[in-house]
Amino acid sequence: MYSRISIKETLLEKPLGFVLSESTVIGIPIAFFSGEAEIATREEELVLIHDFHHKKAPLLLGVLRYLRRLEPFLRRYQRVSVIDFPDAIDNVEKLPYTNGIVIPLAELLVDENSEEIIDISRNVTYVPFPGSKVYKIRHGEALVNLLRTLLPAEIEPLVLGNHKYTEGLEIPLNPRYIPYHIGVFGATGMGKSRLVKVLVDEIVSKTNYAVIVFDHTGMDYTQFYPDSTLESLKIRLDPLTFSTWLVKKLRLSEYLVDYIDISVLELFRDYVGSELENIFESINKLRDLEEKREQMNRLHNLLKEKITRTAQKLGAKDTTIYKLSILMDILVPPEELARIFVREYSADQVLDMAFNLKKQNEPLVIDLSLEETLEAKRSVIASVIEVAWRRILETREKINLIIAVDEAQNYAWRAGRCEEGLARIAREGRKWGFGLIIASQRLAGSISTDIRANLNTVLFSKLSQTGDLNEIKQFADITGIEQSDLAQLVPREFYVAGLMNPLRKPIAIRVKKVE
Ligand SMILES: Nc1ncnc2c1ncn2[C@@H]1O[C@H](COP(=O)(O)OP(=O)(O)O)[C@@H](O)[C@H]1O
Ligand SMILES: [Mg+2]
Repeated sequence: MYSRISIKETLLEKPLGFVLSESTVIGIPIAFFSGEAEIATREEELVLIHDFHHKKAPLLLGVLRYLRRLEPFLRRYQRVSVIDFPDAIDNVEKLPYTNGIVIPLAELLVDENSEEIIDISRNVTYVPFPGSKVYKIRHGEALVNLLRTLLPAEIEPLVLGNHKYTEGLEIPLNPRYIPYHIGVFGATGMGKSRLVKVLVDEIVSKTNYAVIVFDHTGMDYTQFYPDSTLESLKIRLDPLTFSTWLVKKLRLSEYLVDYIDISVLELFRDYVGSELENIFESINKLRDLEEKREQMNRLHNLLKEKITRTAQKLGAKDTTIYKLSILMDILVPPEELARIFVREYSADQVLDMAFNLKKQNEPLVIDLSLEETLEAKRSVIASVIEVAWRRILETREKINLIIAVDEAQNYAWRAGRCEEGLARIAREGRKWGFGLIIASQRLAGSISTDIRANLNTVLFSKLSQTGDLNEIKQFADITGIEQSDLAQLVPREFYVAGLMNPLRKPIAIRVKKVE
């Protein structure tokens, strides 16, 4: 339970202003008292409206938007006399004033006798009378307790940061909606990756979800988790990703692709107990570089022979077979081949690592940066997701796993198996405790609509493409947020909207500092 606070304790002594006519449940026009109040106040500040007419719920919590400076004579669409007399601008008497709109977020219920706040409801149905006074919130701690009462009592909320303006006001987020998927959007440099880091830390330390973070650049997460980072070069690729790599390496024309695909598929099919298995194990085990190199040459020869034999079997011309063999020698160095082909861990083992790290409240970070092709990076993500689905289908139990994909424009749009895997989590993951965190600088042409439509919590900052705000509007309720609101955000500031936000309406937060 939270400690009770009285109305008096919550409000600053001096009101900022008062309510004007024509309030509705979605917008309350207010005027500011002149002087300090109108100079110091900014959009996005949280305010309380005190309406003594309503004894049970005399306080409305709201956010201030659409600040406007006005003057009765210097009207925008009217030709005023000073236009012709520039010197007069300093001499005419001006009567400036400031208006704004308060977007109501919640009603605060009060005990009539003690005047203590006893509850909060985000279902705003009361419209305040004109003349009701508007106050700044004295300090955030009081409200934190109240916001927490919007969440179920037994859960520990996630905290990414404080409200942008109200000191001490942590915005508690509801972890129940983590597997309803989270999107993080904003221009480069606004702090998406840091926000994802804070979010991931909160999840692994406060919930029972394990987290796997895919670090596209290898510069955003690996530095924070040196002991729980795995290079993707240690994770096995599936046969077709490998053969695609090889085809590219050999620069083969399309009608020769089958020879490679079939060779590789056969090798993998007959893997158990084969010479290939023997070579793999030796390479992984050996420490001596010379001995290792010998095994890599063995691998190279084995593959070359397999390919030429397959080509022969399928009726290739002698010249083609000879060419394939030469191309293998010239274009595929054995060390490189081994780096792609011989990898230590299966996707299954990667999952186990993530669940083990969860026991120490750590995420598993997979460093994709050393992977040569985007195709290989995608394949790593796809393999991990596919194995997770297999486990779910085998056990029919919740997996409690969150997959975080940063720079998601590379993986969630025209990205084949990888995109399909992510979309499947987005569509069906929720009931299996299988969630997604997607971070990207763009939406249109970057994140498939199938994935977007299933992101139920959205954190967004200044966007690089003006159209992207509308893209967000199509799947998230961010009513009242316009381009001009985004323009006021600086790095580390994000709006949080959607199911995890207890107020459900977009609120501006400042993300915790990541050292
Ligand atoms: N929460 C934060 N704490 C500390 N520094 C931050 C934070 N968010 C952003 N920054 C600073 O801004 C830079 C860019 O942040 P980053 O998360 O990499 O942005 P993005 O992923 O959106 O491109 C960081 O290198 C860091 O210096
Ligand atoms: Mg980033």
